[in-house]
Amino acid sequence: MAKNAWFETVAEAQRRAKKRLPKSVYSALVAGSERGLTVDDNLAAFGEVGFAPHVAGLSDKRDLSTTVMGQPISMPVLISPTGVQAVHPDGEVAVARAAAARGIAMGLSSFASKSIEDVAAANPQTFFQMYWVGSREVLVQRMERARAAGATGLIMTLDWSFSNGRDWGSPQIPEKMDLKAMWKFAPEGITRPKWLWQFGKTGRVPDLTTPNLTAPGGVAPTFFGAYGEWMGTPLPTWDDVAWLREQWGGPFMLKGVMRVDDAKRARDVGCTAISVSNHGGNNLDGTPAPIRALPAVAEAVGDDIEVLLDGGIRRGSDVVKALSLGADAVMIGRAYLWGLAANGQAGVENVLDILRGGIDSALLGLGRASVHELTPSDVVVPDGFVRNLGV
Ligand SMILES: Cc1cc2nc3c(=O)[nH]c(=O)nc-3n(C[C@H](O)[C@H](O)[C@H](O)COP(=O)(O)O)c2cc1C
Repeated sequence: MAKNAWFETVAEAQRRAKKRLPKSVYSALVAGSERGLTVDDNLAAFGEVGFAPHVAGLSDKRDLSTTVMGQPISMPVLISPTGVQAVHPDGEVAVARAAAARGIAMGLSSFASKSIEDVAAANPQTFFQMYWVGSREVLVQRMERARAAGATGLIMTLDWSFSNGRDWGSPQIPEKMDLKAMWKFAPEGITRPKWLWQFGKTGRVPDLTTPNLTAPGGVAPTFFGAYGEWMGTPLPTWDDVAWLREQWGGPFMLKGVMRVDDAKRARDVGCTAISVSNHGGNNLDGTPAPIRALPAVAEAVGDDIEVLLDGGIRRGSDVVKALSLGADAVMIGRAYLWGLAANGQAGVENVLDILRGGIDSALLGLGRASVHELTPSDVVVPDGFVRNLGV
C-alpha cells in the first residue's frame, strides 16, 4: 500500500479520486442526469434524518451480521452493480476481492469490464445484474452463463429511461480505446500520471468493452454497441419480469423500485427482494431520494420480501437510518468507486471499514445490540419528509 493511502471518510476518498482520475473518468462516476436534482436529493435527504440516542444501558456487543438473498453477510451492506470501466485496471475483480475479504456480497453489472467468471471466482457471493437487453433467448444465455460461473443471485434493473444530457456537461467516452482515442485523451491522462502508470504497468489500456454481453463464440461488444442493442429492445412487461424470475429460479432482486404499487407487483411476481432506488440519480431527474420513498414501500411489502435501498449511502449512520426506516440492507455505488479509484482493493476495504465503524457507533449510541433491533423510534424524521409514491 502506498504511504498514507488510508483515508478516514468516504468524502476524503472522493477527493483523492478526483485528484487521481482523468476528468472524464471522474465525471462519468459523478454522473447524475439533467439538473442533478435527484443525485443531490439522494445525499441531502440523509442529512434531514436525525437520531434519538440513549446515554446509559448501552450494549457492549453489537451484531452487524444479517442475511440477504440467502447469503449470510457480515454487515447489511452490499456492492451495488456499476459499469466501472476505466477507474482501475483490476476493476470489478478488485471490488469483489475487497467485498469477499470483508464478508459481503457483490453485485456485478452486465455492463462491467470484468467477466462474471473472474468476479465470481474472487467472491462466491456474487449476484449478476441484468438489464432487459436483447431477445429472450439471449437473456437466457447470459443468465445461464452467470449461473454456470457460480452467481448466487440475479438482480434485474429496470429503472432506466435513456435520459441524456447533464447541465454541467457529460464526459466524452470513446467508442473504444484505439490509437485515435488515446491521442485525443492523452492531455487528460498526462495530468494524471499515477492513474496512467497503474494502467501502464499492466500493459493494457482501459477496456471499454462489455465481456458479459458477448454472444457465444463472439467478441465482447463495446459499451456503446451494447447500449444500442438495449435501446432497440422492446420494453419489458410485468409478465416478462415474472418470466425471467422463473427462468432463474433462485434468489431474484428487482432494483429501481420507487413506488408502493410497483413494490406490490414485484412481490406478486415472486421477487425475493427489491431495492428502493433511483439509479443513483442517473435515471429520471426529479425522482425523490429513495430514503423518502422507503417507509411506505417497507410498510407495504416489508413482511413479504426483502427490502433494500441504494442511493446516497456515504457513511455507516446512513445505513442505520435506512434500516431504522424499514430496509433490511443497503447497497453502495459511488462510495466504493471512490475507494477503488483512491487505492484499489485496499481502498474499497477502507470504505467498507468506514461503513462498518459508522454502523457500529450508531448502534452503540442508539443502545441497540443488533442491526435487527432498529426501529423508526431510533430516528427523527421531519414533517413532510416521507413521499408516498404510488399509494
Ligand atoms: C457510474 C455508475 C454506473 C452505474 N452502472 C449501473 C449498472 O450497470 N447497473 C445497475 O443496476 N446500476 C448501475 N448504477 C447504479 C448503482 O448500482 C446504484 O444504484 C447507485 O450508484 C446508488 O447510488 P450511490 O452511488 O449514491 O450509492 C450505476 C451508478 C453509477 C454511479
